[in-house]
Amino acid sequence: MKISPFGTNMDRMPRLAFRMMKLMFDIRDRLVSVGSLLDRFGIERGQTVVDYGCGTGSYLNQASKLVRPEGRVLALDVHELAVEAVKKRSVREGWTNVIALLTDGRKIPVPDETADIIYALDMFHMVADPEAVLGELNRICKKEGFLFIDNGHQSRQKARTKIISSGLWDIIEEPKRYHCCPK
Ligand SMILES: C[S@@+](CC[C@H](N)C(=O)[O-])C[C@H]1O[C@@H](n2cnc3c(N)ncnc32)[C@H](O)[C@@H]1O
Repeated sequence: MKISPFGTNMDRMPRLAFRMMKLMFDIRDRLVSVGSLLDRFGIERGQTVVDYGCGTGSYLNQASKLVRPEGRVLALDVHELAVEAVKKRSVREGWTNVIALLTDGRKIPVPDETADIIYALDMFHMVADPEAVLGELNRICKKEGFLFIDNGHQSRQKARTKIISSGLWDIIEEPKRYHCCPK
């Protein structure tokens, strides 16, 4: 398995690397709002949305707004610093419907068929066991739910092969930035 200091195939990155990433994302979030991507995912009021590999929570403001107070956003990450950052940010921003949860990158602490929409952005390349994660995402997704997952820092072909070979997800749409996978 190929391991790189930048996170490929390693799940949990070193704390220093996470802190450096947080610094970059904090600057990015001040300059641009990345959350508008979520407007393409059909997220509706009252839904349960999972932000898988949420990092420092760059997409959570938009997710929280789209589901409204009646819905909820489960923000999951394998790094304790991500969970800590999202908890602090939720208090600061007043996101009452965001719940930050730590996962171990294999078993996701969410009951079966919970999520209407799951999105996993800029993280797929880091996943050490894609089959296990795609299986778990399938388990927690509702029957009519969707997974939106992007390539991360790997080729589109590589990401596509991982998704299809899981045998659990189809790809019905492939816009430039992500793969749309119905359960
Ligand atoms: C580059 S950051 C992207 C964060 C966020 N999705 C964004 O686009 O701003 C990737 C995140 O995925 C998390 N991660 C890596 N492997 C994971 C896994 N197997 N399960 C859950 N999270 C994971 C990392 O800890 C990191 O916070």
